[in-house]
Amino acid sequence: MSSRRILLKIGAISAVSFIITACTKAVSGTSEPTSQETKEATGQPNDESTSEAVVEDTPSQNAPEETQSQGGEVVIAQVSALVAGEGFNFKANDGTDAILFKTSDEKVYALSRICTHQGCSVNFDLSQNKLVCPCHGAEYETGQGNVLSGPTEKALKKINIKIDGDNVLEVV
Ligand code: FES
Repeated sequence: MSSRRILLKIGAISAVSFIITACTKAVSGTSEPTSQETKEATGQPNDESTSEAVVEDTPSQNAPEETQSQGGEVVIAQVSALVAGEGFNFKANDGTDAILFKTSDEKVYALSRICTHQGCSVNFDLSQNKLVCPCHGAEYETGQGNVLSGPTEKALKKINIKIDGDNVLEVV
């Protein structure tokens, strides 16, 4: 084989190698390390991840009023908006269908609405000052949800609340 043919083959192989290298860099980007990679390699703190964590901890500006939290407590309603004898239905923090109501003596309570007999939704009856199930007539007292008359013997689930100024808060 002549030396000219050998030179041509070497030149062709070099050109193909150059094209493959150029294409690989174009697809994968630069092989230079980023500043973050350099910091990680040298053990320096990463400022970028710290600022991301701060942004994630910022509370949402679009949170609905009923889900605003005050130190582990959730605002359910305003006391001034509650009318004696009218129940305010809401979802408790654990997903229970619940009722918030003000009695004739201005006390505020929250109980599960789910009747412990067969699961119908109970209502607050101001004239009788008790909760009544429309399905089979079970009756519950307002304070603790204890049974006044059957067919069930199990009390309604109590939802823990507290009053803070004009807010009624569910304690979670
Ligand atoms: Fe309430 Fe039967 S479901 S009394």
